[in-house]
Amino acid sequence: MSAGSTQYDPVEVAVLSPDEVARARDAALAAIAAASDLDELKAARLAHFGDRAPLTLANAEIGALPPAARAEAGKRVGAARGQVRRAIEERETALEAERDERILTAETVDVTLPADRVPRGARHPDTLVSDRLTDVFVAMGYEVAEGPEVEAEWYNFDALNFPPDHPARAMQDTLFVAGPDGGEGSGMVLRTHTSPVQIRAMLTRQLPLYVVSPGKCFRTDELDATHSPVFHQIEGLAVDEGLTMADLRGAVQAFVDAMFGEGLRTRFRPDFFPFTEPSADVSMECHVCRGGSARPGGDPCRVCKSQGWIEIAGCGMVNPRVLVACGIDPDRYSGFAFGLGIERTLMIAHGVTDIRDTIEGDVRFSAAFGMEI
Ligand code: PHE
Repeated sequence: MSAGSTQYDPVEVAVLSPDEVARARDAALAAIAAASDLDELKAARLAHFGDRAPLTLANAEIGALPPAARAEAGKRVGAARGQVRRAIEERETALEAERDERILTAETVDVTLPADRVPRGARHPDTLVSDRLTDVFVAMGYEVAEGPEVEAEWYNFDALNFPPDHPARAMQDTLFVAGPDGGEGSGMVLRTHTSPVQIRAMLTRQLPLYVVSPGKCFRTDELDATHSPVFHQIEGLAVDEGLTMADLRGAVQAFVDAMFGEGLRTRFRPDFFPFTEPSADVSMECHVCRGGSARPGGDPCRVCKSQGWIEIAGCGMVNPRVLVACGIDPDRYSGFAFGLGIERTLMIAHGVTDIRDTIEGDVRFSAAFGMEI
């Protein structure tokens, strides 16, 4: 500090005069009050509280005053600056609150507005049933085997021991694929069941063999409530040493338990398939009435038509002629096979009364079975 400052007359330092300080303070307070948003407040703070603001500059002058005059000037400027600082703080709090309020209002979501919703897709119920059954057998160690939908007649019929004149080959059941000249004789059909995959599996895989084959099948059926020319089956095949019908029953029971819940009995009755011997049709106890409708005095049951049993699958021990056709020694190996309709299983399990619901593609039907994508 210079020696001359001792003679300094504070009254002559204009910026420190009470009037000047009051003017600067009032100008600052006015600017702060006038700031209508945080940006304007920032500008006012720079102008009135920043490094070059009149009160800041005045403050800096205090040091140049003679010691006797410093206290009073300091008090005056300090009070003014304190007022300005507090005004800035208050205005800032108020403007921040205003801003937050504005954002909240602008970003308000009206949950009562009608929504423009795109419906989610749903996996087809056939796929759900097919996957569920496939999983049951995969969990027991079966592998998934697939085959073509356009199949050689040999796989679809001959290798499965269908004689050449078997009625199932006839035009009314089988969709034949036209030859190159548009005529018959291509030797190809749209597969009428998933059983040709048995042949493909036996010809290409190592023994012992445990496969499950879900897939699409075709027949010349008219489309009505219970028939569709395109449908799905799932096939199981096991070839191993020492397999008996007891193993087949166990496999079928596992499928019924998984699909319909445990505790339903199954029943085998003699049937005929060229590729299994002996063959059986499998029924399960009705999962709705549990057989009650068929007992004396039981209430009628719509699901099993009061039979107490529902047919669900065809099955049997693999015919030794089929094993031979696939180069497997029937004296050493035996096998069992079963096949069932996916749509039929779906309809039984979920009370679907019209198979056409499964092919019309209305998502409202699929959605009812769960919103899995
Ligand atoms: N493939 C037979 C059908 O479509 C079902 C079946 C499969 C029967 C396997 C026995 C063994 O009717």
